[in-house]
Formats: sequence, structure tokens, C-alpha cells
Amino acid sequence: MHVSSDDFRFGMRHLAAAVNIVSSLQDGEPRGLLATAVCSVSAEPPLLLVCINRSASLYEAITGSGRFCVNALRANQHALARNFLNVESKCRFDGLGWTSLSTGAPAIDGALINFDCEVEQAVTAGTHMIFVGQVVATRCEGETDPLLYFRSGYAGLGGLPEDGVPMGAA
Ligand SMILES: Cc1cc2nc3c(=O)[nH]c(=O)nc-3n(C[C@H](O)[C@H](O)[C@H](O)COP(=O)(O)O)c2cc1C
Repeated sequence: MHVSSDDFRFGMRHLAAAVNIVSSLQDGEPRGLLATAVCSVSAEPPLLLVCINRSASLYEAITGSGRFCVNALRANQHALARNFLNVESKCRFDGLGWTSLSTGAPAIDGALINFDCEVEQAVTAGTHMIFVGQVVATRCEGETDPLLYFRSGYAGLGGLPEDGVPMGAA
């Protein structure tokens, strides 16, 4: 059975995912894109992976600097997410506060969580590059709900009790 790229995209729209800005530095300037392809790899050592399209502007920034930061967004940051999709790469950080944690990659202020990473490994997969990053610093400025992507739109954890449903609960 042949699965077309449209079939694949349709399927992926049903895979709810956290919305993140993956950021890096290019010639000292902050760059970033909206990404849902972010995944935990290992706790010891602390590794995560991001999949970045090799035609995206951020690809050169990560390859050149060897560092990136994963900024998971809060539920109320959908305007920021939309801005990263609609605005050209060079202007996405205009008016946006960010901090250097350890590597210098931009940690967006007010994000749900920042994972500051050094590139440990890079593996080509189709149109994308899988960057495995060693997490060298984290910052969490307070617990709130995440911004999620589901069926072509932004979503929150609405409908669940404040603290979520424990895994394994009946
Ligand atoms: C919901 C959603 C998730 C996305 N996830 C990724 C991703 O994980 N990796 C990626 O390279 N692009 C992803 N993209 C695409 C980029 O955000 C966008 O196409 C990219 O910024 C365009 O390239 P540019 O930065 O060169 O303008 C996603 C787009 C959307 C709408």
C-alpha cells in the first residue's frame, strides 16, 4: 500500500504534539522556527532530538554554531507561534526577550521550559536532519499548561482536571 505525503501529513495532524520554538544563533543573531518534531532521547546523559528541514533557515544556524535551544511554549503563546510561522526568519525575534543560558543559543523568556543544547550527533533522514542535543542547561519559570498542535490548529489541555489525569487511572 502506497502512503502519499498527503496521507502522511493527514495522519500527522492527528498526532497531538507540544509546540516549540527551536532557536540558534547565526552570525550572532537569534534565529528560530516553530517545531513539533522534538523528542526526549535519554536522561543519562540528558539527550533530546529535534528534526529540522535541511532547507529551513535554521538548519545552517545549527550546523554552523553546533548549538540550539528548545523553547516549549505555554498555552497562551499561540500569537508568538503564529508570528514565527508568518514572519520572515530575520524578524522573528523582533521585540522578543531572550537570554543566553550556557551555549548562547536564545532561551526565549517566558517559555514554559528552555532546553539549552550542544549538538552531539546529526543524522540525515529524508528532507530533514535529526540533531541529537546534549542538554547543558534548563530553565523553567513556573508551571502552566503547554501549547499543543492538533488537527491543524492550536489546542490546550482543556477538559482535563487542573493537574491532568494520572497515567493508569481508570
Ligand atoms: C505545526 C507545525 C510544526 C512544524 N514542525 C517542524 C519541525 O519539527 N521541524 C521543521 O524543520 N519544520 C517544522 N515546521 C515548519 C517550520 O515551522 C517552517 O516551515 C519553517 O520555519 C520555514 O522555514 P524558514 O524558517 O526557512 O522560513 C512546522 C510547521 C508547523 C505549522
